[in-house]
Amino acid sequence: LASIRVPVDSVEPGTQLTVLWQGKPVFIRRRTETEIEAARAVAIEDLVDTNAENANIAGEAEATDENRSLVNFSPPNPDGTMGAPIGTTGEWLVQMGVCTHLGCVPLGDGAGDFGGWFCPCHGSHYDTAGRIRKGPAPRNLPVPVASFVDETTIQLG
Ligand code: FES
Repeated sequence: LASIRVPVDSVEPGTQLTVLWQGKPVFIRRRTETEIEAARAVAIEDLVDTNAENANIAGEAEATDENRSLVNFSPPNPDGTMGAPIGTTGEWLVQMGVCTHLGCVPLGDGAGDFGGWFCPCHGSHYDTAGRIRKGPAPRNLPVPVASFVDETTIQLG
């Protein structure tokens, strides 16, 4: 499937980009510390869908915030090549902007009872990690195949 590259250097913390990929919206959010802390404080037992729903990792992975956010890289090497992966600091969350109930596009920027996304069609609330917490949607917002290809560019697919 075709991949696209998205420059993210202009995305400020606490905001998100929505891009179209394969005909569907993808949310690329640069999260604040507060959003990350809120997501990481949630116990797995409190989740509706305990699966990470992340196409980048094994199918059975739990829906921890670490398992849903994008892997970051250390600064470039002296020769200009990309730095080593340093795991998920949690700053970047990439997910499909498609409600897992019946496919509406959820509202973002802190919407809903859990400070993440809210689907106005039938009232599904997603938290700051895009995990379904309340309402009819059965699954977390899916995380597509995504990775940094350099310090400021995310590739989808
Ligand atoms: Fe989102 Fe129904 S489509 S709640």
